[in-house]
Amino acid sequence: MRLLVAITGSSGIIYGIRLLETLQSYRKDRTVEIHLIISNGAKKVLTYEHPDISHDFIKQLADIVYDEQDLAAAPASGSYLIDAMIIVPCSMKTLAAIAHGYASNLITRAADVFIKQKRTLLLVPRESPFSVIHLENMLKLAKLGVHIVPPIPAFYTQPKTVDDIVNFTVGRVLDLIGLTTHNLFKRWDKG
Ligand SMILES: Cc1cc2nc3c(=O)[nH]c(=O)nc-3n(C[C@H](O)[C@H](O)[C@H](O)COP(=O)(O)O)c2cc1C
Repeated sequence: MRLLVAITGSSGIIYGIRLLETLQSYRKDRTVEIHLIISNGAKKVLTYEHPDISHDFIKQLADIVYDEQDLAAAPASGSYLIDAMIIVPCSMKTLAAIAHGYASNLITRAADVFIKQKRTLLLVPRESPFSVIHLENMLKLAKLGVHIVPPIPAFYTQPKTVDDIVNFTVGRVLDLIGLTTHNLFKRWDKG
């Protein structure tokens, strides 16, 4: 499976990092090839949220890393085959651009390609509260088949740490792309 992960400049960069970290076991057994784009906005938010984590550390979690301005890179073309794209976290700016087909960087262009090719696209949008603009953009994309997976924790799993909360959303993302062998959260079992 070839995956394209994009990290954009909303709060919650840890969700993107945790997804990449979790994908390493699939990468090692060659189930997954990881392609990565980190927006300039994400690089800035990273310095505020995780001053201890470098951009280079995140880059080595992927097989191929693209510059967000490189509109000639492979994911910009529908002829280049990628199984799923995950934008995690997804800023309201990137969400708006995708909802309006404004493909001005490689992240929004690749998402535009995924929508036209009817491929699996997941967004993990982070903002609070959501305005009507944000909600309308999400509704529009959901109607087009885009998975909208906000990082909203569940509490029936009895999270004890921030890691537990992060892992829950990352696990739900993995489930949606068919990588279900993770142990990121305990699955609901009433009995
Ligand atoms: C510390 C920090 C936190 C931010 N958090 C959010 C957020 O949670 N959601 C959001 O939509 N934008 C957030 N922003 C604003 C985005 O970074 C900004 O709109 C940026 O242009 C997004 O660009 P990108 O989508 O290309 O990464 C934040 C910015 C900073 C500096």
